[in-house]
Amino acid sequence: MTVFEATCTAPVNIAVVKYWGKRDTSLILPTNSSLSVTLNQDQLHSKTTIRASADFTSDRLWLNGIEESIPSNNRLVACLRETRALRTEMEAKDSALPKLAQLNIHICSENNFPTAAGLASSASGYACLVYTLSQLFQLPLDHSDLSIVARQGSGSACRSLFGGFVAWDMGEKADGSDSKAVLIEDEKHWPDLQALICVVSDAKKGTSSTAGMQLTVKTSPLLQHRIKDVVPKRMEDMIAAIKEKDFPRFAELTMRDSNQFHAVCLDTYPPIFYMNDISRSIIRIITEYNKDGVKAAYTFDAGPNAVIYAPKENMAEIYAILSHYFPGHVFDDSLSLLKDGASVAAL
Ligand code: PMV
Repeated sequence: MTVFEATCTAPVNIAVVKYWGKRDTSLILPTNSSLSVTLNQDQLHSKTTIRASADFTSDRLWLNGIEESIPSNNRLVACLRETRALRTEMEAKDSALPKLAQLNIHICSENNFPTAAGLASSASGYACLVYTLSQLFQLPLDHSDLSIVARQGSGSACRSLFGGFVAWDMGEKADGSDSKAVLIEDEKHWPDLQALICVVSDAKKGTSSTAGMQLTVKTSPLLQHRIKDVVPKRMEDMIAAIKEKDFPRFAELTMRDSNQFHAVCLDTYPPIFYMNDISRSIIRIITEYNKDGVKAAYTFDAGPNAVIYAPKENMAEIYAILSHYFPGHVFDDSLSLLKDGASVAAL
C-alpha cells in the first residue's frame, strides 16, 4: 500500500512585542499585534514527520515519542480540518491527484529543547505541523496564508512560518482572514544581532498561556491600557528600530515590552508569576551592564527563562558576566540568529 510522507522543521520565535490576550478564543484572534525574532533552527527546532496511508485505521499523534490523543485537542483538530478541506478542494478540481484528504495520518513530532518551559515549543510545534501538512497535501499556499492556519493551533506559531523579523498583524475581520504573519525583514537583514537563551528552569510552566491570557483579559485594567495606548505605537517604533538596525532603541523597546507583559500578569487577578528570583537577578545584571549605554536586552515569555539579545561583539562579555554571577553554568554558545522559517527537511 502506498504511504505518502513529508518531514519538515520549524524554528522557535521569541517575541519582542508580546502577544497576550485573545479577542476570539476559538479562532485565536489576538487583542494586539505582536512582533518576534525567529531563532536559528539549526539549534532549536521542532521536527515533524507525517505519513498518510489507506492502511492506517485512525489519525494518531506522537509528541516527543509519547502518544497523545487527537480528538481531545481542538486546536490540532482545527489545523487538520482546515488543511484537509483545502486538499479536498484541490482533489475535486483535479481528478488525477491522489485522494489524500480522506486518508488517516500518523504524526510524529519532536522538539530538541524542553517542551512548555517558556521556550515557545507550541510556536515551532504548530508551525511545523501546518507546514508539514501543507507539504504532504501539496497546498498552493504562501507562508502568510499558512500562518492563518498555524495561528489556530497556537497564536505565536503563525510567526514561526518566516525567518527574520516577523509581525503578527492582529487584523480586524471577525473570520480571522486578515490575522496573519507578515515578514518585516528577512534573516539576512541584521547578521550582527544574536540571542542567548538562559534556561533558568526546564520544568513545565505553572499557568498555561491559554489559561493565563484569558484570566488577564477578564481581570486586568492594565491590559486595556496596553492594547489601546501602548502596543500600536510600540509596533511602529519597533519596526523602525529593526529597519534602521538601531540596537539601543530595539533593546529598550524589547525590555519595556517584556516588563509590561509581566506587569500585566501581576495585574491579573489572581496574579500570575512567570519569572522567578533568578529571572529577576538577570534583569538586574543586564540593567547594571547597560548603565553607560544599552549593550544587551532581556526578554521573558510565559516562563522563567531569559532570552538576551545583543550585538555579536558584546556576547563574550555577557557570558563572562553571567558565568560570574551563576558559577557552574556554562554560557559559551551564542545562538546566532535568523535563519529561514519553516522548511522542508526531507520528502
Ligand atoms: O501562542 P501561545 O499561546 O503559546 O502564547 C505565547 C505568548 C508569549 O510567548 C508570552 C508571547 C508571544 O508573543 O510569543
